[in-house]
Amino acid sequence: MKDLILVTGGTGYIGSHTAVELINEGYEVVIVDNLSNSTADSLDGIEKITGVRPAFEQFDICDKQRLDVFFEKYPSLKAIIHFAAFKAVGESVDFPLKYYRNNLVSLVNLLDCMHTYKVPSIVFSSSCTVYGQPKDLPVTEDAPIQIAESPYGNTKQICEEILRDSVRSMPELKVIALRYFNPIGAHPTALIGELPNGIPNNLVPFVTQTAAGLRPELRVFGDDYPTPDGSAVRDYINVADLAKAHVTAIGRLLNKANEPGFEFFNLGTGRGSSVLEVVKTFEKVTGVPVNYKIVGRRAGDIIAVWADTTKANKVLGWKAETSLEDTLLSAWNWEKKLRGIK
Ligand code: NAD
Ligand code: WQD
Repeated sequence: MKDLILVTGGTGYIGSHTAVELINEGYEVVIVDNLSNSTADSLDGIEKITGVRPAFEQFDICDKQRLDVFFEKYPSLKAIIHFAAFKAVGESVDFPLKYYRNNLVSLVNLLDCMHTYKVPSIVFSSSCTVYGQPKDLPVTEDAPIQIAESPYGNTKQICEEILRDSVRSMPELKVIALRYFNPIGAHPTALIGELPNGIPNNLVPFVTQTAAGLRPELRVFGDDYPTPDGSAVRDYINVADLAKAHVTAIGRLLNKANEPGFEFFNLGTGRGSSVLEVVKTFEKVTGVPVNYKIVGRRAGDIIAVWADTTKANKVLGWKAETSLEDTLLSAWNWEKKLRGIK
């Protein structure tokens, strides 16, 4: 029988891509999402790509009673991938309690239910934001955690601590926290992708919306950083590649030889790209110009970060494979589909 995996936040950006990869690898998927930052259309996309429509339950994981009903309904659940969270850095500064409530309570509720209903395995969506500006690059998992720049970033740090403490108190618990660098792009079919709410904060959706004519110009935040071209450097990781890492993580958790405990891995490409390199690569592969202007640095931005992925390569047997070129093309194909551009 196929192992059943709960994907919380599974109609969202990374969750929908992960549902596809899980189904492609022969897992059965049930998605829980309250659609606070996604739509049920992703289910159509997942079905078109895989030929399978995952089970879907729409509710808020912060509702513990409702979550109990869910766990009672699915007694064969084998593991959880927990994507559901709020993720807008700026909004978290204005509404910190909204972020602490949603991101922390949802995890606490899940851990409670995992204990009660004996589902010991969870993959947690963490972030490279926990490293702040690392002293040494590329950054390894041994780098110190720095004081978070935002309440959002702090929720990721606290969630990792909650997981670490829970592992100490629940000897059966198996946790893998995946620290994503900058996920970008869309599925190569353009049937699922990112749906930013309002004006995008992140670079690539802003680039694609500017190219599509929705935004008059992209502001490049800073060209006076100590980097080769003066713009800030990040590790942009293809979302479908990222999704595949979750499947290998689930395989590791479900493997009987894997000991209970807490593990964490960087998920990036191992390569840093500057903002200007992203813009120029986008223009080159799509042939579409991006109107941009250099402006001052954005508050809270770090200079440069990219991942040392050796641990994920060796222990998970996973490696990012898609080029920046193909990934930016996938982002553009998704944007064109959303806007009806031929
Ligand atoms: P997303 O907003 O597209 O997906 C999250 C999904 O969770 C949404 O569909 C939303 O409706 C749902 N959700 C939120 N709170 C919920 C709740 N209480 N109950 C039920 N559903 C709820 O975001 P994403 O980009 O796919 O991110 C997924 C995870 O990865 C998040 O935990 C995010 O913090 C983390 N992450 C994202 C990035 C990134 O740049 N996208 C980087 C690092 C980490
Ligand atoms: C990338 C680069 C900007 C927009 C954020 C979160 C982080 C993680 C990923 C969840 C930076 C520059 C951007 C624009 C620009 N999310 N930029 N013009 O800031 O690395 O990380 O998303 O965990 O926690 O903080 O990503 O895409 O916002 O920015 O010049 O209009 O693009 O200054 O150098 P960031 P980003």
